[in-house]
Amino acid sequence: MKFAERMSRLGTETAFEVLVRAKALEAKGREIVHLEIGEPDFDTPKRITDAACKALRAGYTHYTPAPGMLELREAITRDASRRRNMAFSPDDVVVTPGGKPIMFFSIMALVGEGDEVIYPNPGFPIYESMIQFVGGKAVPIQLEEARDFSLDAERLCRLVNDRTRMIILNSPHNPTGGVLARTDLEAIAAVVREHPNLVVLSDEIYSRMLYEGEHTSIASLPGMKEQTIVLDGFSKIYAMTGWRLGYGLFPSELAPAIARLMTNSNSCTCASTQMAGVAALTGSQRPSIEMVAEFRRRRDIIVAGLNAIPGINCLTPHGAFYVFPNITGTGMTSREVADRLLYEGGVAVLAGTAFGAYGEGYIRLSYANSISNIELALHRIKTTLAIRNRAHPNPPKVASKAGKAKRAIDVTKPAELRQIKKPEPVG
Ligand SMILES: Cc1ncc(COP(=O)(O)O)c(C=O)c1O
Repeated sequence: MKFAERMSRLGTETAFEVLVRAKALEAKGREIVHLEIGEPDFDTPKRITDAACKALRAGYTHYTPAPGMLELREAITRDASRRRNMAFSPDDVVVTPGGKPIMFFSIMALVGEGDEVIYPNPGFPIYESMIQFVGGKAVPIQLEEARDFSLDAERLCRLVNDRTRMIILNSPHNPTGGVLARTDLEAIAAVVREHPNLVVLSDEIYSRMLYEGEHTSIASLPGMKEQTIVLDGFSKIYAMTGWRLGYGLFPSELAPAIARLMTNSNSCTCASTQMAGVAALTGSQRPSIEMVAEFRRRRDIIVAGLNAIPGINCLTPHGAFYVFPNITGTGMTSREVADRLLYEGGVAVLAGTAFGAYGEGYIRLSYANSISNIELALHRIKTTLAIRNRAHPNPPKVASKAGKAKRAIDVTKPAELRQIKKPEPVG
């Protein structure tokens, strides 16, 4: 079959591929601790599920307006004014099946052939994938461990030129848990305001998963509302990943174009799911608050546990539910560590390179799992890496720079995997 040329430019989200590999091992009887996938291990609060069931029985089984039901868009604007201190009209809101389509639609609508988009690297892989898919030029801004995984706003501003159409920000950040300081947002906003055709896509899906301080949306800075798209949703904060419910807050002239993309693709978001969204926003927020408190407890356990393992150095993330430890001290590449942990240790994690070339030297672990599973995973990681260190007492140093990442061996390929020596028995 002949595919359209653009398909060769479409990337993917490795988390789902690793999940498939982990499930295949489980099907063969292996027991795996899942720290790869980015979703809360909590159930959706019953109140929300009940609202959806009630809606289905009450006949919410039809199409809705493409940008979403007015009731939900109103609830979203009230939430935005409470949390972001901003006044939006329901006409500025487009509801989508998950937060991801907001990236897809915004990039489709705004980025043309050869247009430049600055995006965080390491970062959520779909940004780079979509920029390249539409024929844009993906311009990475490296998030550095030395900066606590915040970005260098001055450097970002220097990347802006007349061809730059979009800047993608994500705070709190996947995969590092880094958070952007208000002063950095102000510096970026100052440059954006000088370029009327420049739009910020601010991915704030983890904005309520912040462990200290207050979340600042760049959209709330003076003059920025008309140059910012805010991406948010229900997947993470209400443990609703499988429901597929997200939304964007758009500059008023952009919202109708995004709604048209919805009409051309999904028609609308599932009606009963939208009613669940209304219940989520209007009812008690206690389950979400308690979930974030639990994530914070787990964060502290996983950070301390990882830092106690030779070869691993882990910063304390400020938000979301991921850690992004530096594994260069193991002497292995990110892929090698991730594969060894999966196939030898029974712990599914992601290689940092799943988030872009600057992720080399790191792995990502999601701590959206029980404390007992996190402790089991820590024990297995320690044991697996200790075996490896004994087998190779003087491991070659792996550079953490992106350029070197390209030369790393792809140990996930079956032929190469077969060459990995069986670990020596422990003890
Ligand atoms: C940074 C970031 N943005 C957006 C999304 C998409 O969320 P959703 O499941 O609502 O599409 C994710 C999901 O992992 C994410 O990590």
